[in-house]
Amino acid sequence: MCGIVGYIGMREAAPILLSGLQRLEYRGYDSAGIALQNGGLPFMKQKGSVGALLAAYEESPAKMVGATLGIGHTRWATHGDPSDRNAHPHLNADEDIALIHNGIVENYSLLRKELISEGYAFLSDTDSEVLVHLVDRIWKTDPSLSLEAVVRAALRHVEGAYGLCVISPRDPDKIVVARKGSPLVIGIGEGEYFIASDAAPIVEHTKKVVYLSDGEMAVVTREGYQVKTIENVETEKVITELDFSLEKIEKGGFEHFMLKEIFEQPEVMRDVMRGRVRTEEGRVVLGGIEDYLDRLKQAKRIVICACGTSWHAGLIGEYLIEDFARIPVEVDYASEFRYRNPIIGPDDVVIVISQSGETADTLAALRAAKEKGAMVMGICNVVGSTIPRETMCGIYTHAGPEVGVASTKAFTAQVIVLYMLALALSKGRTISHDEMRLSLKELSQVPEHAAKILELDAQIQTIAESFKDARNFLYLGRGYNFPVALEGALKLKEISYIHAEGYPAAEMKHGPIALIDEDMPVIFIATRDSSYNKILSNIEEVRSRKGRVIAIASEGDTEVARLAEHVIYIPQASAQIMPLLTVIPLQLLSYHIATRRGCNVDRPRNLAKSVTVE
Ligand code: F6R
Repeated sequence: MCGIVGYIGMREAAPILLSGLQRLEYRGYDSAGIALQNGGLPFMKQKGSVGALLAAYEESPAKMVGATLGIGHTRWATHGDPSDRNAHPHLNADEDIALIHNGIVENYSLLRKELISEGYAFLSDTDSEVLVHLVDRIWKTDPSLSLEAVVRAALRHVEGAYGLCVISPRDPDKIVVARKGSPLVIGIGEGEYFIASDAAPIVEHTKKVVYLSDGEMAVVTREGYQVKTIENVETEKVITELDFSLEKIEKGGFEHFMLKEIFEQPEVMRDVMRGRVRTEEGRVVLGGIEDYLDRLKQAKRIVICACGTSWHAGLIGEYLIEDFARIPVEVDYASEFRYRNPIIGPDDVVIVISQSGETADTLAALRAAKEKGAMVMGICNVVGSTIPRETMCGIYTHAGPEVGVASTKAFTAQVIVLYMLALALSKGRTISHDEMRLSLKELSQVPEHAAKILELDAQIQTIAESFKDARNFLYLGRGYNFPVALEGALKLKEISYIHAEGYPAAEMKHGPIALIDEDMPVIFIATRDSSYNKILSNIEEVRSRKGRVIAIASEGDTEVARLAEHVIYIPQASAQIMPLLTVIPLQLLSYHIATRRGCNVDRPRNLAKSVTVE
């Protein structure tokens, strides 16, 4: 999830690219760069914000002057820390090809090895850099080819996702772009064209755009654009008129970042699994822990430390790792772990989970565990943040920047990572090859199921309307759905300011049942699993005390409908997969209740996105 801009026309390109990148900063902000063509191929790229790049440009604009063609990128790291060298554009050794890339090259390590053996020197740790060397290699074998021909040939070697732009003074006055799994838009002006990863940087220049489809390439010149498939078959494109405000475009057309991030989840889930879930081979590839996997498998005990939503993901991780890998797991609030003198030693593995990678308590827990000699591993979203830097190994969630303060897509990404980790720890020990393939197959179907659940948004809005004035909520679930009950309650309280509590459903009779009356909405997560009959009894108990029941149930269930005022049906899956599905309606319900109460969902009162203080 990075931002791309391109410009070709009659105006100075650099200021247009830089202001376009500023519009795209919500897509990534750890480093940025531009490359232009004015006879040569001047470029600048550096770690930090687009503002910092702009300041550097303003200090010495001379080398960029006169260029009316260029490309720019703002990065959200996936491979390689945020740094000057990992920033895009990437250039070949002769510095006459510049390339920017969104997405993930899945077979990059293979390609990189191949290119290194042929004498190519790599200047960055990114997967993207292989692309520019591939283009260079093909061009060297036949210098008479056009830029589009060499890009097309290079892409035949690439597995994975890309949105990319390439320029070169060897075939000047054109930008070659290609898309597979990572969006690209061409903006059509008067004698000038814009390229971007979404319409945000284009809309101030023109409202006319053409959206590239997956598997398409375009050659953009000052005279026009030509779109073909990557297989070189010409395609007809329709010009679309934008009618969005800039703010809405940044939010992908959604009212709030939180809603956008909830709806992004099917795509994010695919990104998290990309190149890692190998269903046919019956294995999971987790590069960041590969060298430590044996040690992880031999752990006497795993302790997971985290805060808030990440702690809820940790609870699901406990169930998954114990279930699949049969390694004992404990989950601790990082804030408790750091101060309670825990018994930890070299046989233990401590896993810290954090979206931001900067949470003060989680970082302190990590340091405490390290001091006691434990092996520490991280699960983080922000590449290069403090936690990944201080852990021995780890897995990035690749959920892209999460802007809404309430964590949504980062949570589902964390749970997917924990599922993959549990399977990786099981391989060769507690799970057969067939079981492994079956579990991976189920996991790879999750994005599809998630997309189906998002279609229930209208029904969830109706439910939100009738419960928006409630003063309390109870969330109940059992087994894998107990942590989801906690997460549902946390989401509601943090953005709507309604008091909500999550409990394991069986605990209700030990206290919370006293709260039940006709003013108490109770959300049951009642999907079909081994505790289904027990949860039906819990629903009966609430109904007989006049509590208002909203249930999340498996498709085809008729029992629950008899007892609940509202039922949200979701696709049936195994218990281990369910948290990834049951949480989505709860995220939507919190969102719609909060907006109906006039709350600022993206910036709830008293909360910060990254809690860097105790
Ligand atoms: C809830 C939420 C917080 C965070 C918590 C930990 O929606 O966002 O509870 O989950 O502050 O943050 P990270 O994961 O960045 O360590």
